Amino acid sequence: MSNTVIIGAQWGDEGKGKVVDLLSAESAVIVRFQGGNNAGHTIKVKGKQTILHLIPSGILHDDKVCLIGNGVVCDPYVFLEEVDQLAAQGVNVSPERLKISKKTQLILPYHKAIDAARESKLAGKKIGTTGRGIGPCYEDKACRVGIRATDLTKPQLLHDKICHALQEKNALLTGLYGQPALDAEKIYADLLAIAPRITPYLADASTIVGNAWEKGQNVLFEGAQGTHLDIDHGTYPFVTSSNTVAGNASAGCGISPRALDRIVGIVKAYTTRVGAGAFPTEQLNDTGEYLRNKGFEFGATTGRPRRCGWLDIVLLRESVRLNGLTDIALTKLDVLQNLPALQICVGYEYQGEVIQYPPQEEGALGEVTPIYEEMEGFIEDISTCTRWEDLPDTVQAYVQRIEELTGVHVSLVSVGPDREQTILR
Ligand code: GDP
Ligand code: IMO
Ligand code: MG
Repeated sequence: MSNTVIIGAQWGDEGKGKVVDLLSAESAVIVRFQGGNNAGHTIKVKGKQTILHLIPSGILHDDKVCLIGNGVVCDPYVFLEEVDQLAAQGVNVSPERLKISKKTQLILPYHKAIDAARESKLAGKKIGTTGRGIGPCYEDKACRVGIRATDLTKPQLLHDKICHALQEKNALLTGLYGQPALDAEKIYADLLAIAPRITPYLADASTIVGNAWEKGQNVLFEGAQGTHLDIDHGTYPFVTSSNTVAGNASAGCGISPRALDRIVGIVKAYTTRVGAGAFPTEQLNDTGEYLRNKGFEFGATTGRPRRCGWLDIVLLRESVRLNGLTDIALTKLDVLQNLPALQICVGYEYQGEVIQYPPQEEGALGEVTPIYEEMEGFIEDISTCTRWEDLPDTVQAYVQRIEELTGVHVSLVSVGPDREQTILR
């Protein structure tokens, strides 16, 4: 028996969806513990692609229980859209196997309106959020005025809370941001209309996870975003609004940290980032363009082109420590094919010194100069390799160098988007 946490070790989009889908086969329960529909997790099975934003990536395995934990911010409209899409594909999305924690905070239209208004006001200092209302919803949670999924069963409470919230939100929207006011009664009525479709999914997620653990069943914790988008440990303020590190798997679904046995960091064989913020190894040149095109690096949520660059071991070292990675799943190795040489950033030069970990001061990451180590490239198509021995020596050497530099075993190598294009070591 072993419970596994999957987290992104970079800035998101490392291939968490693919790995969660893969590891779901040996799990009984799959739980999302943070983030919301800012996530875009892609799964490809026998050529058929599914992109999930909110529902756990274990959903394609029929016999598994999938939970949206209390640490998630859930847009109820997006949830239903995703349910409908999956149902149309023939996926079982019944409340018997798909559940939302009663404590999950709901993203409502005013959160999205504030997210958008705030970003447009920031002009040159935009964070580049996904515009899904994530930050404003977490703000309300911390401010103790959030609306939780369970409130859908209490119409009067729901009404009072929405009216109360809108007094403040409308003052902000109209007064500061010059936007139209939102109608509390309409928001309430719309929500009440969909409530009967949502309430069957409500559950005590913490107890479900706890019971599974007690029975010795495997639980898989699905992280969203990436370690360097963590609200505390990421490249603040260019981060998301939740803790993305492995430790939050426990609080974000209501289980003891003792339940977290194995912590797998998903690492892309190079680095990408969506939105603003420092990116020391970014390649604003043909290499970056090559990675974007070959890796199809366009956001699964917003469609924005992802910024691309070389692998950054300094960031990974920090991810190893912050998450306590027990292993690494290395994805998109196939994308590096045909590059004449591969660069790995092994340190930074900062204020005249060589440093091994990212500097902590705001903005300082934008001032470092990466120190690269060059490795041989490869021209072979590795996307059909299914065994470690099938990989060319140059590719094996790249993987082994990552292991040496991070001190973490690479237990899974991904050579294509499909479930089958995976090498287990
Ligand atoms: P997530 O947010 O971490 O789940 O990652 P995304 O789904 O946003 O982005 C990863 C993208 O890479 C998706 O389009 C996947 O289908 C794709 N992908 C995952 N693993 C591999 C791989 O090993 N090779 C290639 N070429 N694509 C991959
Ligand atoms: P997955 O789970 C990549 C980024 C946004 C923006 C910042 C804040 O697919 O890896 P937010 O909407 O969260 O307030 O935006 O975080 N971001 C992501 N980047 N992958 C994601 O999720 C992301 N979720 C948020 O681009 O820079
Ligand atoms: Mg993604």
